[in-house]
Amino acid sequence: MAEKIAIILAAGQSTRMNTKLPKVLHEVCGRPMLAYVVDACRAAGVQKVIIVVGYGKEQIIERYSGQDDISFVEQAEQKGTGHAVICCKDQLEGFAGDVMILYGDAPLIRTETLTTLVDKHETEVSSATLATAILEEPAGYGRIVRDTYGNIQGIVEERDCSDKQRKIQEINPGYYCFNGPVLLEALDKITPDNEKGEYYLTDALHFIIAAGHKAVAVTAVAAEDAMGVNSRVQLSEAGKIMQQRIQSDLMSNGVTIVDPDNTWIDARAEIGQDTVIEPFTYIHGIVTIGAGCRIGPFAYLRDGTVLADDVVLGVFTELKDTTLAGGTRVRHHSYLGDAKVGKNVNIGAGSITANFDGRQILQTSIGDDAFIGPGSVLIAPLEVKQGVHIRPGSVLSQEDQS
Ligand code: UD1
Ligand code: CA
Repeated sequence: MAEKIAIILAAGQSTRMNTKLPKVLHEVCGRPMLAYVVDACRAAGVQKVIIVVGYGKEQIIERYSGQDDISFVEQAEQKGTGHAVICCKDQLEGFAGDVMILYGDAPLIRTETLTTLVDKHETEVSSATLATAILEEPAGYGRIVRDTYGNIQGIVEERDCSDKQRKIQEINPGYYCFNGPVLLEALDKITPDNEKGEYYLTDALHFIIAAGHKAVAVTAVAAEDAMGVNSRVQLSEAGKIMQQRIQSDLMSNGVTIVDPDNTWIDARAEIGQDTVIEPFTYIHGIVTIGAGCRIGPFAYLRDGTVLADDVVLGVFTELKDTTLAGGTRVRHHSYLGDAKVGKNVNIGAGSITANFDGRQILQTSIGDDAFIGPGSVLIAPLEVKQGVHIRPGSVLSQEDQS
C-alpha cells in the first residue's frame, strides 16, 4: 500500500455563512466540522494531515496544534481550491505516495467512503480517483461529466455548466485521491480561466486525463453524506443528519431514546446499555452516562457530567462538571455544578449548588447515602459527609458543617 497523506482545505472565509468564525470551526452536534474530516482521514489510514488555513488561521491552528500528524500550510489569499493545493507544493515535492484531498466543510464524511475510494484507487491502479454522489437536486455542486462509455471526462462547476450539464445529477462531493507526482504536474496547469476567476482544484482532473493518466470516478457517497456546508441553513441540515446518526448508533448500543426528534445528544457523549433518555433531554459536551440510568424529561446535561450506573435525573435538572455515583437520584428542578456526589444520594426537589460566588467557581462534595432535603441551597465550597440528613429548605455553608 502506498504511503498516504491528506490535504484538508480550510482557508476560505465563507461569505455565504456570514460569519467571523472560520467556517470549518462551526459546530455540528458539538464538534467543529473540521474535526469529523480529520477523524475520517485518520481512521482511513492517513499518516499525515496537512490543513490549509487562511481566513481565521490562528483559531484553527490553536485548536489543532500539538498533534503530531497534523501540520498547517498558509494560503494567504484565497484564490480557489486549486490554489489552496498549489500552496502545498513544497510538501508534495518528492512525495511518491497518494494524496487525498478533502474539503473541511464536509462533516458528514464517512471513513467507509474513504476506504472505498482508496481501495478503488489501488485496485484500478488509477492516477486520480474521486468518489461521487447522485443527488435529486444537484444545484450548487460541481457536475461529473462522463463519456458514452461511462469514463470520467472531468468536473464542471455549476456556474460554468451548459444547460445540458446542469441537468447532470452526479456531483462532486470533494473526496479525491491522487498519485502525488501526477497531481503535482497537473497543479502547474490550472489557470483561473472560469466565470469566478479562481484556480479550481476540479480542473486538475481535466489536465490529468488530457495527459493520458488514468482517472476513475466511483459513485460511493450516499446522497445524504455529500453535503458541503456553505450556509447556516446547510449547517443546521448537516446537524440534523449527524444527530440521527448519533442517536441511531446509541440505540444500536442498547440505549432507549423515547422521542428522537425531541432529543439532542452531543457527538462526544457516551451512554451505557439500557439507559432511557426521555424527551426534551439536551446533552451537550463531553458527558458520560452509565448503564440503566433514566434521564429526563427536560434534563440538561452539560460538559463534564459523569453519571455512574442506575442514576435517575428527572425533570428540569441541570448538571455541569458534576459526577454522580451509582444509584443517586436527582428527580426534580435541581442544579448541580462542580459537584462530586456519592452513591445512593437523594437530592430533593429544587435543591441547588451555589457554586459561583461572583468571582470563582467552587466545589461541592456530598458523601454516599446523604439525604439533601428539598429546596436546599448548598453553598460551595462545601463538604457534606456520608449519610448526613439535610433538612428541607436548608441554606448550608461549610461553617454550618464544622
Ligand atoms: C467545491 C467544489 C465543487 C464541489 C463542492 C462540494 C471546487 C472548485 N469546487 O465547491 O465541485 O461540488 O465543493 O461541496 O473545488 N477553500 C480554501 N481556499 C480557497 C477556496 C476554498 O481553502 O481559496 C476551502 C474552503 O474553506 C472550503 C473548501 O475549500 O472548506 C471548499 O470551498 P468552497 O468555496 O466551499 O467550494 P464550493 O463552492 O462548495
Ligand atoms: Ca463548500
